[in-house]
Amino acid sequence: MTPLLRQVLSQIDGPDPRVNEVVAALVSHLHAFVEETRPTPEEWLAGLAFLVETGKMCTPDRDEFILLSDMLGLTSAVDDVNNAGPANMTPSSVEGPFHSPAPERKLGDWISTGPERERGVPTVVHGRVLDCDGTPLAGAVVDLWQANDTGLYDTQDDSQDTGNLRGLFTTDADGLYWFRTIRPSSYPVPTDGTGGTLLRAIGRHPMRPAHLHYRVTAGGHRPLITHVFLAGDPYLESDAAYAVKEELVREPRPGAGEWGMDGAYEEIEFDVRLVPLGWTEERANPA
Ligand code: BEZ
Ligand code: FE
Repeated sequence: MTPLLRQVLSQIDGPDPRVNEVVAALVSHLHAFVEETRPTPEEWLAGLAFLVETGKMCTPDRDEFILLSDMLGLTSAVDDVNNAGPANMTPSSVEGPFHSPAPERKLGDWISTGPERERGVPTVVHGRVLDCDGTPLAGAVVDLWQANDTGLYDTQDDSQDTGNLRGLFTTDADGLYWFRTIRPSSYPVPTDGTGGTLLRAIGRHPMRPAHLHYRVTAGGHRPLITHVFLAGDPYLESDAAYAVKEELVREPRPGAGEWGMDGAYEEIEFDVRLVPLGWTEERANPA
């Protein structure tokens, strides 16, 4: 440790031990980064200017810091250290910057209410919300959001009605949820801010594989934020947000007519298994 770092660390002594711990670790890693990369003063100021620019991009509908965190795999890393659970739980995955309040809808409703519905592949998405032991959870709330076929969420695109491709569904007595939509497409994350500057600088593409976002809540269970991804998507291996987990990938299959759909359509089945509140590794595997 350099004398300078030792001096900085010796003066961290606030009232909250956790804040002291986190700040000391962060400062230590940043000093090590400076030692390793030896930035010139110009490079250091360019780094600070990049952070200032990132702050300026943030609005109530857009958080460029979350985007940077997603693009560097940091959101997924934080998710990974916080989401231990039973082996059969549905894994969580990043929320991303585009969640917003969704309209309440009835089971079977369309979440696509715009012109993309004429252009897209009609798709029924269905599944059950279950406890990890397979017990159906009636009355669970499934909050969904999806980009349209041009890769934009309603909050990014004035031509879409508020609430398009979003929906809040409540599971029935069997834990079932289902809704109609269009097949999700792969799309690029926004590249007009500092996130895009970073991606171009490191030679990384901005694409996310086709997906639907889920936020699922049920009494007595840990809320779950996750995605379902479509098998076969060319970007599954190189998601710009590093959010893909094997257990979240589903193969769309041709619809067999059970959901009251006219004409050809696809089905995606995705059950969600929630972790009971208070689950801990120690309680699950007592010594
Ligand atoms: C999204 O899928 O909405 C998203 C996630 C992470 C970064 C950018 C977008
Ligand atoms: Fe998305």
